[in-house]
Amino acid sequence: MTSNKQPEVNIGLVGHVDHGKTTLVQALSGEWTDQHSEEMKRGISIRLGYADATFRRCPEAEEPEAFTVDEHCDDHDVDTDHLRTVSFVDAPGHETLMATMLSGAAIMDGAVLVISATEPVPQAQTEEHLSALDIIGIDNIVIAQNKVDLVDEERAMQNYEQIQEFVEGTVAEGAPVVPISAGQEANIDLLIEAVQSEIPTPERDPDEDARMMVARSFDINRPGTTWDDLMGGVLGGSLVGGQLDVDDEIELRPGREVEEGGKTEWQPVTTTVRSLQSGGDFVDTVTPGGLLGVGTGLDPAITKGDALAGQVAGPPGSLPPVHETFTMDVDLLERIVGDDGGEVDEISTGEPLMLTIGTATTVGSVTSARDDECEVALKRPVCAASGSKIAINRRVGARWRLIGVGTLR
Ligand code: GTP
Repeated sequence: MTSNKQPEVNIGLVGHVDHGKTTLVQALSGEWTDQHSEEMKRGISIRLGYADATFRRCPEAEEPEAFTVDEHCDDHDVDTDHLRTVSFVDAPGHETLMATMLSGAAIMDGAVLVISATEPVPQAQTEEHLSALDIIGIDNIVIAQNKVDLVDEERAMQNYEQIQEFVEGTVAEGAPVVPISAGQEANIDLLIEAVQSEIPTPERDPDEDARMMVARSFDINRPGTTWDDLMGGVLGGSLVGGQLDVDDEIELRPGREVEEGGKTEWQPVTTTVRSLQSGGDFVDTVTPGGLLGVGTGLDPAITKGDALAGQVAGPPGSLPPVHETFTMDVDLLERIVGDDGGEVDEISTGEPLMLTIGTATTVGSVTSARDDECEVALKRPVCAASGSKIAINRRVGARWRLIGVGTLR
């Protein structure tokens, strides 16, 4: 059995800068998960903006007031019951690079979209993040209408109407809109109730092969560590299927670029799971949900500085194929998302695209483009199954902008 603290579902926290994501996570976490404290000292840490929150229920109170993150219900003087631990994955609002959001989206089971009641809807990133959810197909969404303490009822209602209009025809259509004040911790119980009903823990098949999407990789050794004390390379990411145990053998693909006789080639890497960390604890077994740290037997030089980010891990021989070139079916957006968004032109042969597939982001050059399909040659190969979704970004001015979605043939 896993401990109560192991998160069982990943929830993306998205929304415009300053609309209150961080404040909301603080209100929901009860205790703020400090990513850089104990875990760091103990050796394994995953520096991917996230925090775990444990939802609880007061056995004596009526719903929705019964929902809480506190361990004790002061009103009825009883201890609360554990419902589940969830992991919030942050999509930094100030990050203009859509890919960061999308690579996080690959490991999200649902999302909370935070929209401030104090500003007209939509703000630029509200729109960008929602279209990313749309593209990745994340439809378990709860909308938190935040900062309602700063507006009067009339403005709150107007803002609510704008939200409804804005989400019409998107994945968020019909999602509950919960008015809250993250700052004043008001209506947090209603928000938990909505998350509990809208973002269920996905059913998992424990007999499936383990599949880990690697989002980060580290060398956790301090400079000057002697060979005897050297710790193996660490992978950070999320398990999307199966179960991983300490001592399991795993393969990583695409692996490493190896030079042999003047030719370079990508070769899978195999290693052993030496330790597992989830929910801030070292554990023997992990199942999907939350972010995961895997201590391996790999030479830390291989994992240093996110060198293995974007790779896929699982039992040897079980992973999808590695592609250096591929063909994708293309679905272009009509307009570039954002305030200065123009029309999206057809993809043309020779143009560079930035592609996000799972947790991998790679630049590809278009070798052939027809109406609704396109062939690309990648700078770095990716490991992905047929049918995988691909976020397609084009360079517009100084930044990469999302122009559509591809499906791997
Ligand atoms: P980024 O991480 O920069 O994208 O911002 P964020 O979305 O995490 O916003 P953050 O939580 O940092 O909140 C932005 C500001 O709004 C802070 O000054 C908060 O104190 C304030 N704030 C957040 N929620 C509320 C609320 O419900 N009511 C009031 N009055 N202020 C709030």
